[in-house]
Amino acid sequence: MPDDTIEARIPASCPSSISEILRHAWHHDLASLKPLLSVPGRASVQDPTTGETPLHAAIRSCGARTVDGNKKSAEKSAAPVDLEAAKAVVHQLFLSGAIWNDVDSNNETPGCVAARLAQDELYNLCVGAGMRAELLFGLLDGYEVLESDVEDEDEDEDEDEDEDEGEGEGESAEAAAAENQQDAPEDVILESDPDRAFSPPQAEGTVTSAAYLRANLTYSDGKLVDDEKNGVMMAWETSIMRSSVDALLPGLPAGKRILNIGFGMGIIDTMFRETEPSRHHIIEAHPEVLKHVESSPECTFGKDWEASGPSEGAYKIYAGKWQEVIPKLLEQGELYDAIYFDTFGEDYSQLRMFFTEYVLALLDEGGIFSFFNGLGADRKVCYDVYTKVVEMHLTDAGLDIEWNELEVDMKGLDEEGKGEWQGVKRRYWTLDKYRLPIITLMG
Ligand SMILES: C[S@@+](CC[C@H](N)C(=O)[O-])C[C@H]1O[C@@H](n2cnc3c(N)ncnc32)[C@H](O)[C@@H]1O
Repeated sequence: MPDDTIEARIPASCPSSISEILRHAWHHDLASLKPLLSVPGRASVQDPTTGETPLHAAIRSCGARTVDGNKKSAEKSAAPVDLEAAKAVVHQLFLSGAIWNDVDSNNETPGCVAARLAQDELYNLCVGAGMRAELLFGLLDGYEVLESDVEDEDEDEDEDEDEDEGEGEGESAEAAAAENQQDAPEDVILESDPDRAFSPPQAEGTVTSAAYLRANLTYSDGKLVDDEKNGVMMAWETSIMRSSVDALLPGLPAGKRILNIGFGMGIIDTMFRETEPSRHHIIEAHPEVLKHVESSPECTFGKDWEASGPSEGAYKIYAGKWQEVIPKLLEQGELYDAIYFDTFGEDYSQLRMFFTEYVLALLDEGGIFSFFNGLGADRKVCYDVYTKVVEMHLTDAGLDIEWNELEVDMKGLDEEGKGEWQGVKRRYWTLDKYRLPIITLMG
């Protein structure tokens, strides 16, 4: 459990100009804080060693919410916290440009602190601010990396790899912070910049689409991994695939027209096939997945399956990226009752493009669309922010959404590198609830 005391979070070593802001935020002293925030960047200053920002301070000082109200957990004898004052400070910080997802030295964003302390109202302010920031990034065409399998666009890839290497992997956050501190003159405000010691979480060990599609893949032990040990698909997701099929095809009727994007381990396609569809189209881009489909004795989606369809082309795996295949399906006049989207190595802009530009044209009346909802799944606040972002974008695209919340059995999933994550570079799922999207044409 992190030490949430003011002494631990705003240490004596904190430069005085930063400490002044952090302390006013901590004590919810809006009158003293507000004039200091008029300079850009000040709402996001950070203590160089603890990474405390004014948002962290304003939320943390509220302590854990108890049934009888807000009491500081670290200072049990203190008076109950004035939550309205805390909200006013958080609100002002966001207005003044505070960054919603900076992490501190405990790898917590302000929203993570609010969630841990059960400060729901403050948590919701963080989610709202995150949503607005992400919508703005979307408008500027530069989504921030919040989720498991995303990075920059292809062209920047090599450059990025070099940059990553240049940043000295293995250098501890404390060492970087100490260096920062040495460089920072005592009274200079540290403005928000991407090189600071504790910045918004970047998904480590992520891949770009182009790099992923060139990588070697291995199917083994209930998982599909690339040569960097990124988990492309894992058997623990089977229950999510099951619930997705049940939601896409209520009552599992035969004779439906199905489109699935991303074959992976074929888990969802096996379930789709069991419903005896009248059309079952799959799009898959990775050459090694396609090779597995063609030649692995364990895979039963090869030529024989294609030939078993009720008519020519009714059962088919289309080789290629969906971005290239979908226009052909549209030209063919294909319409579907159920569409599922679950790719790897692509960022949210691709999913958004898919549902904005194609779902309306591909989904027949009464049809249902769903996707694997791993957006921001490595921390609850990011998951909640993306839930809201997706809702806004779907509505904008003329689609209705309902969420079906499922329990995720976290046995074997709760520790990095252990259980299900053994042999997988990064634990891309951390949440005990999965929000399954059920999307239909707006009525
Ligand atoms: C997470 S897996 C899908 C798992 C699948 N739902 C299952 O039940 O096994 C993602 C798949 O999408 C494929 N893929 C990635 N990018 C793609 C793209 N642009 N077009 C088509 N397939 C893509 C990957 O090669 C991989 O096979």
